[in-house]
Amino acid sequence: MAVILCGLGGCLPPQAIDNQEISKGLDTTPEWIESRTGIRERRMVSAGIGVRELAIKAGARAIASAGGRRIDALVVATTSPERICPAVAPEVAARLELGDIAAYDMTSACSGFVYGLATAAGLIAAGIADTVLLIGAEAFTTFVNPHDRSTRPIFGDGAGAVVLRRGEAEEAGSLGCFDLGSDGGRSDLLAIPAGGSRQRGASGGLGHGNVAADEFFLHMEGRAVYEQAVARMAASAQAVLDRAQWSMEQVDWFVGHQANVRILQTVAFELGLEPEKVAVNIERLGNTLTASIPLLLNDLALRGDLQAGQRVLVSAFGAGLSWGSTVLRWPQLNTRDSEWQD
Ligand code: COA
Repeated sequence: MAVILCGLGGCLPPQAIDNQEISKGLDTTPEWIESRTGIRERRMVSAGIGVRELAIKAGARAIASAGGRRIDALVVATTSPERICPAVAPEVAARLELGDIAAYDMTSACSGFVYGLATAAGLIAAGIADTVLLIGAEAFTTFVNPHDRSTRPIFGDGAGAVVLRRGEAEEAGSLGCFDLGSDGGRSDLLAIPAGGSRQRGASGGLGHGNVAADEFFLHMEGRAVYEQAVARMAASAQAVLDRAQWSMEQVDWFVGHQANVRILQTVAFELGLEPEKVAVNIERLGNTLTASIPLLLNDLALRGDLQAGQRVLVSAFGAGLSWGSTVLRWPQLNTRDSEWQD
């Protein structure tokens, strides 16, 4: 038994914000942002749009790419939930007319898509589902302080989705083993301090007025996060390659979470991977958290850069801290661009 990737889709909100525009009112410059992060523009949701609409469009496209295959379970990985309760996945399942299937959200920040792949693979391996729709969906720009120059330019919104089904190991599209890890001792390096149970207290939220507004936005210690991202992604990617018994030379593409182009280049250098094997689209989308890996796969597939049978190394790092890697043999897939319009 193996888990096969058989569908792929993405969705981006239509509003593109370039570095010139994002720099307005911030003590930064377009040049600083591009040179330190590799980002030139990002997409942002407009008022009233949350992850649900992005997830629905990305999910519908992934199902179409899988030839309209019946879905048994839906997992939505998100760091920017539509509402604190309930999960958005049941609403997405209903809007996609998937029937009364198992549907739930999961959170593992920027490693959420890799954790989601492992979760979906587990549902299939356990016989709970034959086919799983996994969506990484984010409207995280709404959780970023518009006055914080160190976080505001970095993030972007979007959703990416894959369909995974039960199959055989020799089939194109088969997912390999996983390496997953976490370090909660460093959780404060990347965190949204308020909005959860710690600040609400026994009065059920009445204490909210005492919490500074800034506490509801992301706090990030950029330099320490950078160093952890490089170290953890490099170690995790190497661990999964060892487990899969793939050599570095056999890897055709390194599809790493798009947090910072310099992080990706440094990880590749530490792994001894040729720079041209590092897949990048951060210049156009910024860091889209759980959506970044499927959106990047979609871009690569659409450009014709990903060929059936190629070996893909996938690795992610994010808040938690958390990280994860997996390997994949690329399948023959039809997909379409991730733009918003139908
Ligand atoms: N414009 C101008 N200066 C900025 C800035 C901006 N947008 N953002 C931060 N700075 C400043 C800092 O305040 C700091 O100033 P100081 O020296 O006076 O304290 C200086 O630039 C250098 O900060 P540093 O954090 O060392 O810069 P950097 O080269 O590491 O780049 C990040 C900053 C945020 C781009 C980088 O640390 C990074 O990408 N970190 C990881 C972020 C990430 O990936 N988060 C998501 C994880 S999934």
